[in-house]
Amino acid sequence: YADYDLVIVGSGFFGLTIAERVASELDKRVLVLERRSHLGGNAYSEREPETGIEVHRYGAHLFHTSNARVWEYCNRFTAFTGYQHRVFAKVADQVYAFPMNLALINQFFGRSYSPSEARALIAEQAGEIDTKDAKNLEEKGISLVGRPLYEAFVKGYTAKQWQTDPTQLDASIISRLPVRYTFDNRYFNDTFEGLPVDGYTAWLERMADHPNIEVRTEVDYFDVRDQIPTGTPTVYTGPLDAYFGNSEGALSWRTLDFEQEIVDTPDFQGAPVINYNDEDVPFTRILEFRHFHPERAYSTDKTVIVREFSRFAEPGDEPYYPVNTPDDRAKLLRYRELARKETANANVLFGGRLGTYQYLDMHMAIGSALSMFDNRIAPYFTDGRALA
Ligand code: FDA
Repeated sequence: YADYDLVIVGSGFFGLTIAERVASELDKRVLVLERRSHLGGNAYSEREPETGIEVHRYGAHLFHTSNARVWEYCNRFTAFTGYQHRVFAKVADQVYAFPMNLALINQFFGRSYSPSEARALIAEQAGEIDTKDAKNLEEKGISLVGRPLYEAFVKGYTAKQWQTDPTQLDASIISRLPVRYTFDNRYFNDTFEGLPVDGYTAWLERMADHPNIEVRTEVDYFDVRDQIPTGTPTVYTGPLDAYFGNSEGALSWRTLDFEQEIVDTPDFQGAPVINYNDEDVPFTRILEFRHFHPERAYSTDKTVIVREFSRFAEPGDEPYYPVNTPDDRAKLLRYRELARKETANANVLFGGRLGTYQYLDMHMAIGSALSMFDNRIAPYFTDGRALA
């Protein structure tokens, strides 16, 4: 472990962006340690062997950004398809175009409203509760979109996501519930959107493909930490609490369970993602991966679907979404202080979604890694400035 200028813990987008920049821009030797059996973090995907269909192992990953620098950077490693994400929602045996929009409103209320009529209707229904008086998530939801849309599209889905009745959830969990008074049902509003033409793993592998970068999989940093020379510059993208042995208490996360099935049909649902908003359906959504790549010549006799179930993470589960209770936020402040000292005393920087206890989209993880490179790592190696 003495031959490297920089050690990176975790081979997700954050870690690989730092590795790539340091290797190609600064010509320094980088060691990436990854505890899983593959690189790429949660964006990793692989071909399901029976059908050849690319499956995103850790949940659907849709790339989108309005950051021109990030887009240009990503395009060095992959081309993107013209995929535009659209989601549908199944409620009481009807399928609606989501997020809430004019098509959904017309279908749900059974007549054709103009944009201004629909706006007036929802405003009237939402008038039942004033948003500033909302005492819990349910009241907040009703105050934003009215009771009928809340009960059909928000209540059951939220209850399943949080394993908690929305009357028992904090109003602050939702700040807004977007309703569009047009027929536009594109999920993202970003300037750039698409999926990597030959898959996420090919993209991630190209980022790591440099003679100055070595990736070692199935190595847990904590098992080898005492073999790394003290003071070696390190970028840690694993869980923040784990780094400090949970000294301030464990930060809480939600996780997902994925139930994959190969179905003997060319097309199971006609769309990549259908949400199941009714509370009596145990899963939150079904992904059908062939629809992410309509341009590929996948065989048509079988399809791969994945049912997604949401729950609170227990020790040992994959941490996916920070729960972010007031208690978590108090712990996070204490961990940030410990992290600040660790950077100053031991040259360890903390980044990525686990290392900062923050939900980050891929473009945000890449963007924040580029900033860390510019502001901390490049000045350290080129001008001898401190990492802190
Ligand atoms: P990431 O979690 O990818 O990588 C961290 C790595 O560190 C992991 O590989 C882990 O094994 C490793 N590690 C941890 N501890 C270690 C240790 N002690 N030793 C060695 N290795 C260790 N984004 C988006 O833009 N569009 C989308 O549609 C989605 N969809 C989506 C769905 C779900 C379910 C989730 C959870 C997330 C998304 N994302 C997303 C977000 C996306 O996954 C995220 O932006 C990237 O994974 C962030 O990359 P990081 O490198 O920060 O973490």
